Amino acid sequence: MSSYCCVVVGAGGISQVWFKALVQESVAVKAVVDLQVEAARRRIQEFNLEAEPSDNLKAMLKKHRPDFVLDLTVPEAHAAVTCAALRMGCHVIGEKPMASDMTAARRMVKLAEKTGRLYMVSQSRRREARNEALRSAAASGAIGRLTTVNCDFYIGAHFGGFRDTMASPLILDMAIHHFDLARFFSGADPVAVYAREFNPRGSWYRGDVAATCVFEMSDGLVFTYRGSWCAEGCPTSWNGDWRLIGDKGTLICERDQPPRGQGVNGTEGFIRPLKDLDIPVPPLPAEGYHAGLREMLEFLKTGQKPQTECHDNIRSLAMVFAAIESSRKGRRVPVRSI
Ligand SMILES: NC(=O)c1ccc[n+]([C@@H]2O[C@H](COP(=O)([O-])OP(=O)(O)OC[C@H]3O[C@@H](n4cnc5c(N)ncnc54)[C@H](O)[C@@H]3O)[C@@H](O)[C@H]2O)c1
Repeated sequence: MSSYCCVVVGAGGISQVWFKALVQESVAVKAVVDLQVEAARRRIQEFNLEAEPSDNLKAMLKKHRPDFVLDLTVPEAHAAVTCAALRMGCHVIGEKPMASDMTAARRMVKLAEKTGRLYMVSQSRRREARNEALRSAAASGAIGRLTTVNCDFYIGAHFGGFRDTMASPLILDMAIHHFDLARFFSGADPVAVYAREFNPRGSWYRGDVAATCVFEMSDGLVFTYRGSWCAEGCPTSWNGDWRLIGDKGTLICERDQPPRGQGVNGTEGFIRPLKDLDIPVPPLPAEGYHAGLREMLEFLKTGQKPQTECHDNIRSLAMVFAAIESSRKGRRVPVRSI
């Protein structure tokens, strides 16, 4: 049972899962703010909350003085909403991507430092049992030192709404998850990228909704990403299908099945003998959005910083904007978060 209170900003599609988690954790929602007050009102009714619906964020922050703000608005609004909350002395948990450009993201990180408030980004996929199991297997040394990480993501997604008109819907709104997971699985940081974004024939998106990116990572690791949100048939999972190769074996995680892997088990032969690796998938106390919320509540209680605190998360966002820049310039570009 939590004794904390919050203001939620943005009552669209994703807010449903967040309200569920807020109710489960007994967080008092003081206000729900949306440009469309009716959307805020609907969620308040749906979850039977004693919250005030509003379209005026500053007034709600002044009136309710929440412990934290949950920013569930569209990417273009994240900087304004989060900065307003930080300035009012609130901690913030915001939806990904942190911002719609690096200048705004750097401003948000600086403001978190200046105000001494926590700004964390929800990267819900880090907090899934399968993904934690893959990370932990890679970190255990079972496949030796990582050299190569590949991710394929192919889904024909018909959203409607803001994604249909974004210039880089795949890279900015989805690949941020996969780029962040590549850092999570490997423990490596990005150095440079060569990327090619494109909009396949027959696409129902206005912007480039498919891409291939090759990232140079720290320690010589290479991360290759291929993805499309406009690929009908034979979908991968939303987490993407992953192959992690080390100098002593390989780990695979596909179609949301438990990870599997093989390691070398001998020193002779054209193909060396292999053994299957045992990769346990222990359940997590909470997963996804709910686990992110718990990390915020833990921070409020103990001061322990969440893993996706903005100083870390901006490194994943930098991969996004470097990939977009590389594609536009048609050349390799360095990935710079600061
Ligand atoms: N798996 C995931 O992690 C995941 C999944 C879906 C969405 N998201 C992210 O969540 C965010 C919201 O996505 P969604 O699908 O709910 O979008 P949505 O369009 O359904 O809802 C966004 C809501 O924010 C409101 N809004 C926009 N600007 C505002 C502002 N300045 N002040 C107050 N309200 C404002 C809109 O009126 C709308 O109701 C996006 O950043 C998206 O990338 C994450």
